[in-house]
Amino acid sequence: MSYFDREKVNTNKPEPIILGIESSCDETAAAVIRGRKILSDEIASSASVQAQFGGVVPELASRAHSDEIEAVVLRAVKNAGIGFDEIDAIAVTYGAGLLGALLVGVSFAKALAYALKKPLIAVNHIRGHISAAYLDCPTLKPPFVTLLASGGHTAVLYSGSEAEFEILGATLDDAAGEAFDKVARVLGLKYPGGPNIQRLALEGKPVVPMPKMFKGSGGYNFTYSGLKTAVINYCHTKDQKGEEYSKADVAASFQCAAVDVLVKKAVGAAQEKGVKTITVGGGVAANDYLRTRLTEECKKRGFTLVLPEKRYCTDNAAMIAAEGLVQYRLGNFADMSLTAKASIPLAATLVTPQSKRQKVD
Ligand code: KG4
Ligand code: ZN
Repeated sequence: MSYFDREKVNTNKPEPIILGIESSCDETAAAVIRGRKILSDEIASSASVQAQFGGVVPELASRAHSDEIEAVVLRAVKNAGIGFDEIDAIAVTYGAGLLGALLVGVSFAKALAYALKKPLIAVNHIRGHISAAYLDCPTLKPPFVTLLASGGHTAVLYSGSEAEFEILGATLDDAAGEAFDKVARVLGLKYPGGPNIQRLALEGKPVVPMPKMFKGSGGYNFTYSGLKTAVINYCHTKDQKGEEYSKADVAASFQCAAVDVLVKKAVGAAQEKGVKTITVGGGVAANDYLRTRLTEECKKRGFTLVLPEKRYCTDNAAMIAAEGLVQYRLGNFADMSLTAKASIPLAATLVTPQSKRQKVD
C-alpha cells in the first residue's frame, strides 16, 4: 500500500506547490515554489564553521543539518504563506553528496511525506543545478545548452526536453570548483576558495603563463588537474628560490584560464547544436568573470543567456524544487525505501525519451 493516494495526484495541475529540501553538503536549505515561481527560499549554512578546518568536515555538516533542518523547513513553509496541507509534493536531494548529510534531508522528507500523505520526489543534485534556470526564466523551454560547473562536476550538456539531456563533454579529472578550492589553499585563502580567488584576482593581472588545457582540443571535455599542478609548481618554485611573486597575479591568471575554457566550450557547443539559448548552473557560475565573459560572448552571437542569480547557482533548495517539478510532471515518485547515495555518475542522471524514469536509479 502506498503512503499517498496516487489517484488524487494530478500531474497536469497548472501550478503545483513543491517543497524542496537540500542537505548534500554544508547548506541546510528548504524552499517552496508554485509552478516556476519561488514563494520562499531558506538557507542555514555551516560554511563559516567548516572554514576553520579548511574544507567541509562531513560529521560537522551532518550535525549542523540535524540541528537546523526542522527550523529551516518550518520557515520555508511559513514564509511561503501556505499551509502544509497545500503542498503537492516534497522533493529532496538523495545524492550525490556527503552520505550522512544527505540522510538528514532524506529522512526528514520521508517522514514529512508519510505524515502528510504527499508524494515524495527523489532529486539528483546535479539535475537540480540544471533546473535552476527554469526559475530564473519561467518561459525557458528546451532545446538549450547548459554549462554546469560546481565543486563536484564540470560538463557541457544539451537538453532536448525537460526530462532528457545529452552529455556533450565533461571533466576528465578535477571539477572546476575543486580546482578553485585547491588553488585557493595554495594561495593561503580560506574555504570556500572560489569567491576568495575572485576577490584576490581583482587586485592582479593575468600575466602568469598557464597551460592550455584543451582550449582548442578535447571536444567538449575538460581537464583541470594540469592547471592546478601548474599553479602549485609555480608557487613552490618561487618559494624555494626565495623569489617574490604576486599572489593576486596568480589568482587572476588561474581564474582566466579556468573560466575562458568553460566559456569557449559552452558557446562552441551551442553553435554546433544550432541552439540559441545557453543556461548555467553550479557554484562556479556565481563567478563574476565567468558571468561577464559569457554575457559578452552570447551578446556577440545573438544567443539568449539564462544566468540565474548567484544564490541560485550555488547550492539551494529552490533548484531542488524546480527539478522536483520536472519529475512531478513525469509522475516519478519515490517510495519509502528511498535512501541516500554518496555518488551518482553523471550519465545516470539521464532520462531517455523512450523510458520515462519510473525508478530512482
Ligand atoms: O554548486 P556548489 O555550491 O556545490 C556543489 O554542488 O559542489 O559549488 C561549490 C563550488 C566550490 O568549489 C566553490 O569554490 C565554487 O563553487 N564557487 C565559485 C564561486 N562561488 C562558489 N567558484 C568561482 N567563483 C565564485 N564566485
Ligand atoms: Zn551543488
